[in-house]
Amino acid sequence: MESFYQLLLLLGIFIVALPMHSSSSPPTRLFQFNVEWRNVTRLCHTKSLLTVNGKYPGPTIIVHEGDNVQVKVNNRIPRNTTIHWHGVRQLQTGWADGPAYITQCPIGAGKSYTYKFTVIDQRGTLLWHSHFSWQRASVYGAFIIYPRMPYPFSPTPVRPDIPVIFGEWWNGEVEAIENDMMLYGGGPNSSDAYTINGLPGPLYPCSNKDTFIQRVEPGKTYLLRIINAALNSEFFFAVANHTLTVVEIDAVYTKPFETSAIMIAPGQTTNVLLTANQIPDSTNMFVMAARPYLTSVFPFDNSITIGFLKYKTSNFKKEKQTPMLLPVPPLPHNLPPMEDTGFATRFLNGLRSLSSAEYPCRVPKKVDRRVITTISLNLQDCAPNQTCKGYRGKRFYASMNNQSFIRPSMSLLETHYKKLGAGLSLNFPGKPPHEFNYTGVDPLSENMNTEFGTKLIEVPYGTRLEIVLQDTNFMNPENHPIHVHGHNFFVVGRGFGNFDSSNDPSYYNLVDPPERNTVAVPMGGWAAIRLNADNPGVWFIHCHLEEHTTWGLAMGFIVENGPKPSQCVLPPPSDLPAC
Ligand code: C2O
Repeated sequence: MESFYQLLLLLGIFIVALPMHSSSSPPTRLFQFNVEWRNVTRLCHTKSLLTVNGKYPGPTIIVHEGDNVQVKVNNRIPRNTTIHWHGVRQLQTGWADGPAYITQCPIGAGKSYTYKFTVIDQRGTLLWHSHFSWQRASVYGAFIIYPRMPYPFSPTPVRPDIPVIFGEWWNGEVEAIENDMMLYGGGPNSSDAYTINGLPGPLYPCSNKDTFIQRVEPGKTYLLRIINAALNSEFFFAVANHTLTVVEIDAVYTKPFETSAIMIAPGQTTNVLLTANQIPDSTNMFVMAARPYLTSVFPFDNSITIGFLKYKTSNFKKEKQTPMLLPVPPLPHNLPPMEDTGFATRFLNGLRSLSSAEYPCRVPKKVDRRVITTISLNLQDCAPNQTCKGYRGKRFYASMNNQSFIRPSMSLLETHYKKLGAGLSLNFPGKPPHEFNYTGVDPLSENMNTEFGTKLIEVPYGTRLEIVLQDTNFMNPENHPIHVHGHNFFVVGRGFGNFDSSNDPSYYNLVDPPERNTVAVPMGGWAAIRLNADNPGVWFIHCHLEEHTTWGLAMGFIVENGPKPSQCVLPPPSDLPAC
């Protein structure tokens, strides 16, 4: 009895203590990331792989909404590196955002840097990844933010949550692929496998034992935290016989949306509920599969990664000991075919912000500025005396408003903050320099040369900004996942063909558009996004297909400081790396 009373007392103290604690100082979560090489074997190829703490994929970061986070990154490789917390808003703390030469100089060999930031008003699944060169091929992991309030959906899923992280595996050196592209202007080598949580699965040679298998209990509902960390592939994903209910994208709740499969672009995350309510056959397993969503004519890795849901049975213990060779199962019928743009469109159009009293949708109803930018692939004439391996002996590039972004040799945020302003050109064109039939020209005969520079746009604090992203069919039209740093945005409109500024805005969704940090711009179409420029600093906007970023499909934008101290960039941390 006495101990029961003590327990009550303890609980009482705990409940009283909690609000005081959270209103005075939120907890600080400390993490240590060692960037280091590790020998890893897949498809019977062993290679030295870049990892964090020797893990592939890297460690999962778990925090709660409101927490302060400190991650000390120790660079133990003879190369530069940085880490980006993809989708974390970084309010006033751009120094911790991570893209090399945009918000920081890289962390040099043997050096350390501690990323310090607070997770404010976000909850759900994000990812972290290296933002230097092509290192995110293997340096990536889940970033999970638990909410302070109960989930606004039901049923409440049981723990554990199930991370499902897509990536690629190359038997060769990823560094060499990028160097080769830079040298000759050709396309990248395709990956050798796709992976789920670093595991390719039994459809690849010598890969049977490297298969993701998740045990589930019949009747229970689970939360799958699906992350696309791949460099160059968008995916369709489905679980045989099971319906998925999307409840959150890019760490923002959605109206629950039932679907037979999902489409997910690099940089995007999708939380889905899955109930283990099907009757398995004698294997007790259901296959899950991801295959590319293909919109490009470039060579690609035409393969499928699979894993399994394994239903627990009463003789669960016995069955665990029997070594098994995985069957090569038929693919789920509900997995869309590779070129199913119809499915991708229906799926993306089905996503809506939750837009409730607790989680309102803060889409700007009016805008102060609209920027229209093309997103293009380009073919650049080969300089004399050079060898070019792109199409027709030219070089591939990519651009926004015909500007191929060149990363500077100094951090843009530092240049801006220290008012070394001469280094910044703020003349990124607010509309395409030449108007033409963006999605109707002959993809190969147009002059596709681009210009090079580090051009930015600058907006005052609090600007309600609309950006219309217009795909072009230079080379080929393609679905481009465009990612904005430092801000979430609202996808207010999407369509095929050319954006029509007099008609299309009247069809915008200004009630419950999806809020995210990465938008898949439809192939041969456009997407309109709106954001509140309420985060002072310098922010990168780029295609999250790494090959396209390498070719220059990027731009930057500056949000000026506002009048209040809380609207200004904080001073740089003392350990900020120097260039
Ligand atoms: Cu996930 Cu600039 O990247």
